Amino acid sequence: MVSPVFIGRQDEMRALERLLDRAQARDAAFALIGGEAGVGKTRLTRELAARAAGEGFCVLTGQCVELGAEGLPLAPLVDALRTLARTMPPDVLAGVLGPAASGLSRLLPELAPLTAGGASGGTLAGPAGEDMQKAQLLELVLGTLSRLSAVAPVLFTVEDVHWADRSTLDLTAFLIRSLRNARVLVVVTYRSDELHRRHPLRPLLTSWERDRSIDRIDLRRFDRDEVGAQLHAILGEAPGPTVTETVFDRSGGNAYLVEELAGTVKAHGDPADLPPSLADVLLSRVDALTPGAQKLLRTASVAGRAVPDRLLAEVAGLGENELYAALREAVENHLLVVAPDGQGYAFRHALTRDAVYEDMLPGERVRLHAAYGETLERDPGLAAGEAGQAGQAGLATALAYHWYAALDLPRALPASIDAARHAMESYAPAEALRHLERALEIWPRVADATQRTGLDRVGVSRRAGEAAYQAGALDRARSLLADAMTELPADADPVRRALLLERYAIVQRDSGATGEAAESLRQALGLLPAGETTRAHAKLLAALANALMRNDDMVGCAEAARNAIEAARACGATGAEADASVTLGAAMAYLGMVDTGLDVLRFGLRLGLETAETEGSYTALRAYINLSDVLELLSQHTEAAQVAADGLKLAERVGSSRTLGCYLVGNRAEPLLRLGRWAEAEQLIAEALADQPEGVFGATLHQLRAELAAMRGGDAEAGRELRAASHTFSHTADPQFTQPLRYVAALIALHQDDLTRARDAVAAGIGDDSEEWTSRYAWPVVWLAMRTEADDATRYRDRREDVPAVIAARCAELAGVAARLATTAPALAGYRQLAAAEHARAAGTATAADWAAAVTAWRAAEEPYPLSYALLRLAEAHVTAGETAEAEAAVSEAHALARRLGAAPVADEAAALGRRARLNLARADGQASGNAGQPIADSGPADELARFGLTDREREVLLLVAAGRSNPEIAKALFISAKTASVHVSNILAKLGVSGRVEAAAVVHRLGQRG
Ligand SMILES: Nc1ncnc2c1ncn2[C@@H]1O[C@H](COP(=O)(O)OP(=O)(O)OP(=O)(O)O)[C@@H](O)[C@H]1O
Ligand SMILES: [Mg+2]
Repeated sequence: MVSPVFIGRQDEMRALERLLDRAQARDAAFALIGGEAGVGKTRLTRELAARAAGEGFCVLTGQCVELGAEGLPLAPLVDALRTLARTMPPDVLAGVLGPAASGLSRLLPELAPLTAGGASGGTLAGPAGEDMQKAQLLELVLGTLSRLSAVAPVLFTVEDVHWADRSTLDLTAFLIRSLRNARVLVVVTYRSDELHRRHPLRPLLTSWERDRSIDRIDLRRFDRDEVGAQLHAILGEAPGPTVTETVFDRSGGNAYLVEELAGTVKAHGDPADLPPSLADVLLSRVDALTPGAQKLLRTASVAGRAVPDRLLAEVAGLGENELYAALREAVENHLLVVAPDGQGYAFRHALTRDAVYEDMLPGERVRLHAAYGETLERDPGLAAGEAGQAGQAGLATALAYHWYAALDLPRALPASIDAARHAMESYAPAEALRHLERALEIWPRVADATQRTGLDRVGVSRRAGEAAYQAGALDRARSLLADAMTELPADADPVRRALLLERYAIVQRDSGATGEAAESLRQALGLLPAGETTRAHAKLLAALANALMRNDDMVGCAEAARNAIEAARACGATGAEADASVTLGAAMAYLGMVDTGLDVLRFGLRLGLETAETEGSYTALRAYINLSDVLELLSQHTEAAQVAADGLKLAERVGSSRTLGCYLVGNRAEPLLRLGRWAEAEQLIAEALADQPEGVFGATLHQLRAELAAMRGGDAEAGRELRAASHTFSHTADPQFTQPLRYVAALIALHQDDLTRARDAVAAGIGDDSEEWTSRYAWPVVWLAMRTEADDATRYRDRREDVPAVIAARCAELAGVAARLATTAPALAGYRQLAAAEHARAAGTATAADWAAAVTAWRAAEEPYPLSYALLRLAEAHVTAGETAEAEAAVSEAHALARRLGAAPVADEAAALGRRARLNLARADGQASGNAGQPIADSGPADELARFGLTDREREVLLLVAAGRSNPEIAKALFISAKTASVHVSNILAKLGVSGRVEAAAVVHRLGQRG
């Protein structure tokens, strides 16, 4: 009864084909196809799939199934993976799956062999894992799709998302958010008439509607001509006008109803005999079958849309002959089709399934559900879905569904809990939560609930709280865990209460209530038996240490961590020992005990890697992050970069590169930045940002990119990156995020000579509450603050004005702050020297020795960028002191360094200094970018120079002096005698109040810069 010809839909197909083109051009595209049941969404996507396949696309389709018997978590993803596994040569597939193979094989065991040679040891976050599992799965899928799209463009259709489970919706939304420059078209279909007011798809659709990168197609019904064409194609001959008219009338142009009506027309001939209601239309075809076939259909409808044939036979109680006769009849009448996986039969259309199911008497349905439950419990093999985890999860879900629908609550209860456990193992915490909420609902109505489940109500609430936590529903997690605690009888085991409190504290901590979390943990510890040391002690102490660190209490953190380690050792809790060691190592390093801190961190890393298999990789990743960070704090750039690179490999393998992995990218990029390997750092950051990491993870990378751009003098780009980062960091007070933003903003302002803005940028960053461990973030800010004052003071002196006392006062205040900051690492010592030298510059007393000290410090810290800046100022000081040879050496080195780095502002300054002081820049070949290459513009300094009362001729001479010309050269340029030129110069020096021509040039340069 299906039209072999594809009718109409030209506009829709054109729009979709445009999207195929876009996808081929590496511009990931998305389409949403909505429409009522049976209107033709699936047919449209099939047509699209055929065309895409013709253009060499890899076509993947995932079907969402109604939450019920088949409510397998992430079913569409499993579908797509299965298609890949069955159609791709194993070696290509192995490359496409890459590091994702082992993670995804948890969903589809067929993929497991592909992991054999590759990733081992990297498991996902373990049973006690943080909220990383879901994020990891999303990332694994994203990575797989990107790699796949490098092999061939991809069309991924997710069908019927109105039925999707929460995890599938999250995945779909995530892909739409995150896929960018990949050859992928994602098509999503849904029934618009199924979306009741509180449907979970609604808010997503609303957000997608606002997104202009998503195409929306609202599929309308066929018009009269299209219905005629469809009938013609189905019947194989032109229908008479009354037939078309009646069918159009009755179907309203719904393609599916047209087919059903065409079937009736074919059977009865007379359209006037058509039954009255829609359900009757559908059922009239069923009613025409033999009783055996009808019974078969009713039985099948209880299973859901598809059912394995042996299960069907068993439940329907049909012998082989009867079964196949009935099946043949149903298939010949286009009511059932062979299921896509070849494993059983499916209703050709869900609408018919619904009509058959709804038409049964309630008692009949209950009886059939019970029969499914009995049969599946007796012979689970009949479920015949996927093997392994997915199959187990599917079976468990089916049992939970059938027993509940059979009103057999005593059996539905344990089945729901079992289904929840499987869902947790399949990365589907939201579905686990759904099952557990159902279990909590049933609980009071089952007398022997505890015997049946082996749990008590507290245990179920705790599991539900855990599932909610992992699904990211922190509020729900809190209230479920609070319920669990109130349900706990007063005389209950205190250890149990303590462990519940621990879970509660983790949720508090992640909701940002770090202080409360620490309080809960202390309370929990108080509940544990005092006389002995248990694993619970170790775990709680480790969690307390972590919460205190997040609450910036490093001393308390170290103490708790030490206690945790001791407790962990006493009872062999290696996971807790690893966790606490990482925390302790980081805290010690922050407290200034760096060497010991490093040793403890390395130890924690080793333990973390050893326990990764059983406890998950979270601790090891944290260890890599903290270790590389502390190494960088110590200016051990090369080693820091290496440790971060090792950590990145692990992050990629376990699917954490868009989350924790971003910190590792940052921790690798930063030392590269400091070492002057800017291009490498830039590429690393760009690659990581291309994956669109979200929140704080992406923001740390934008922040580094802002700093890099600012050092290069790319003010506009730096500003953009800064905004991207500040957006996320606006709510945090954590100095590791806020201080670098201030530093970069000030650096940009200084390059633009906007001293007011520079001062504003750093103002909030100079607190007197700075603690030892925040020094590293405060130092650069203090330096720029002092530099701003020095620039300002110099500007007053250049204008021959008195330097206002407030500048000296500010400098004194800054010096006071600086005195309290730690200099536990070479780079920090470098900043101290820079700040001191700037202070002297502000006071007008800076000597070459001041800057030489800064140069020495930065050589020790191996950071070419601040070194180039210090060399530049050193050269300036030498020039002032008339030490030409020393000046020349310093400015040449500054210039060469800055040129090599691409630090245009420093290079330009160095070139300008060289020119006006007539110094020979060893490698100054005029290519320095920016304004240094050009002579100083006449118009620029004019206003500022007016204050000196120069004649026009004197102004001309001064500009030539500023360009580094000698008296004879000036004479030649202005057609005057050398003697006259020399007189002019003397007058000019007097009017400017400077002692020599080089200083005069500097004044013009500095005032001119602000033109
Ligand atoms: N453009 C078309 N040309 C020919 N036949 C069509 C066309 N569109 C739909 N049909 C037929 O109508 C029937 C219903 O269409 P389809 O299954 O695509 O609907 P649907 O919108 O996906 O419905 P549901 O929401 O129930 O999934 C199918 O048998 C299909 O072959
Ligand atoms: Mg469909």
